Amino acid sequence: MKTKQLTTDQLKETAKILRDGGIVAVMTDTVFGLAVKYPDIKAYQALVNAKGREEHKPFPFMISALDQLSAIALANEKGKKLAARWFPGALTLVFKKHPQVEDFYTDNKDTIAVRMPKDDFLLSLGQAVGTPLLLTSANLAGQPPALNSGEVLQQLDGRIDAVVLGSAQGNKASTIVDVSGEEFQILRQGGITLEEIKESLVQTIALGADHGAFTQKNDLKKHLEERGIKVLDFGCFSEESCDYPDFAYPAAKAVAEKKADLGIVLCGSGIGASITANKVKGIRCALVDDPKWAKITREHNDSNVLAMGGRVLDSAQMIEIADIWLDTPFSGDPRHQRRIDKIREAEVREEE
Ligand code: RB5
Repeated sequence: MKTKQLTTDQLKETAKILRDGGIVAVMTDTVFGLAVKYPDIKAYQALVNAKGREEHKPFPFMISALDQLSAIALANEKGKKLAARWFPGALTLVFKKHPQVEDFYTDNKDTIAVRMPKDDFLLSLGQAVGTPLLLTSANLAGQPPALNSGEVLQQLDGRIDAVVLGSAQGNKASTIVDVSGEEFQILRQGGITLEEIKESLVQTIALGADHGAFTQKNDLKKHLEERGIKVLDFGCFSEESCDYPDFAYPAAKAVAEKKADLGIVLCGSGIGASITANKVKGIRCALVDDPKWAKITREHNDSNVLAMGGRVLDSAQMIEIADIWLDTPFSGDPRHQRRIDKIREAEVREEE
């Protein structure tokens, strides 16, 4: 086989080689990698042969979008949280394997290693292929990893379909965290520290209020912190008259940008704060004045921001509602998921 030499300008051509079952060497944020499409048994076997592997060691999977995860892994809350926080980045997560992934891909183990490297070309390539990829280091079994296309060709010329010319970023290897069980386990310490992993698993709430709910915001903050929750307080910081969008917007934005898991926004009625929060893409803010709706909106709407009114509820009532809201998981019911997907589609249409 002749190994084609491609440049990063040839994204479409590179994606086609992968879609057709070929092996492509491509730079990553660490070393050079060899990629093949998943699922494709022939491409998988060709990759094993190209590397000259004798013993069977499973290849890590690469996703280029978070929504590719559910097809290959059964992620628990911790796993989803770490993926949302660190992908793309220097993290490999070991999940429980999705039953539809055939056992030989994981050497009969019920776990699967998944990574989303932080490299723009590689991510665009994955998106152009449209499926997860298998991604392993671009070297022969037992040989040192290659850092640039020249080193790849020295080892693999004629054994792979194509190489994208260039150099890998050479960053520290990814940290590997096993999130397949109840407790997470660090299997290899790499670019992300144990402290950073722990910190990113602490539940974080973004909080914002205007003067109409200043007292309640402070009481709520104290209560959340007593529960062990980290609070990002976006103000306000006095009872002086102010404008609710100045606090509700950054709080909602922190949720959309995954700096916080959930948000709580308050104003006199709760209405202005909820309208503001719902302007942020990806936010589903629910205005609630009764505990029963707190439960329903988590179960049905998977609301990620809660709005309440300081002229409607006192601190104790807000705390009761917030606790129920925080402790109620989304039901996962397909009919609710379908409706949420339609909200997302509406957002996309609005952007066009
Ligand atoms: C402020 O007076 C008030 O308008 C605000 O807190 C809120 O009720 C807006 O919806």
